[in-house]
Amino acid sequence: MASDTEKQNAAAAAMDFVEEGMTIGLGTGSTAKFFIEMLADEIADGLLVRCIETSVQTRDLARSLGIPLIPFEQVDRIHLTVDGADEIGPGGVLIKGGGAALLREKIIANASDHMVVIADSSKEVPHIGAFPLPVEVTPFGYTITAKKVHDALVASGVERPRIELRKAPGSVDLLVTDGGNHILDCHCGRIPDPAKTAAFLSGVPGVVEHGLFIGLARTVIIGDENGAHIIE
Ligand code: 5RP
Repeated sequence: MASDTEKQNAAAAAMDFVEEGMTIGLGTGSTAKFFIEMLADEIADGLLVRCIETSVQTRDLARSLGIPLIPFEQVDRIHLTVDGADEIGPGGVLIKGGGAALLREKIIANASDHMVVIADSSKEVPHIGAFPLPVEVTPFGYTITAKKVHDALVASGVERPRIELRKAPGSVDLLVTDGGNHILDCHCGRIPDPAKTAAFLSGVPGVVEHGLFIGLARTVIIGDENGAHIIE
């Protein structure tokens, strides 16, 4: 069960990585929100940093809290990114995209000197795949792309995957991401070889990005009821 105390404690521990003058990538989701609020408090107290958001949702939150944002095009270096995750497997392999922000999250994580992942203890798993893997696809040809994604999952070793098109919350319409795309939620049960699955998915035309984050998280902080500990 996800706990707000654990999320808050992980976010507080991530504040130790923040330094004056940094450009900081702000993640998306309920755990990242705690970090953003803590950062906003420090900024209000005089901390000088600039930030870049990973979603429209985070942009709106950061603006409402008075956090200075800069456009990505004006960023020459991102020192630190702090973001949540849906699953954290061995070796810091992540599933992300539960909040549909995986494309910008991955671009910013990949462009960062240091990605810190913050999560409650429910996110740490012995093997990934129980959480449906989000795959962002172009609206053009998405039904065919979904079939090809299914084939790619099977070819990479996933047994009997089931693909679901994500709907907009509370609607029968398909969800449209910040990038104008759709999301396929791929129920895999278990992803035996995440690197192979990532490579196979990237090879499907129409796939914009997938939610497997491999080799991106340098630090993973898991919150507990009394504090937090670093597992990677
Ligand atoms: C959004 C994400 C989030 O980081 C992920 O869904 C975790 O969210 P939360 O902290 O609310 O559990 O990848 O696209």
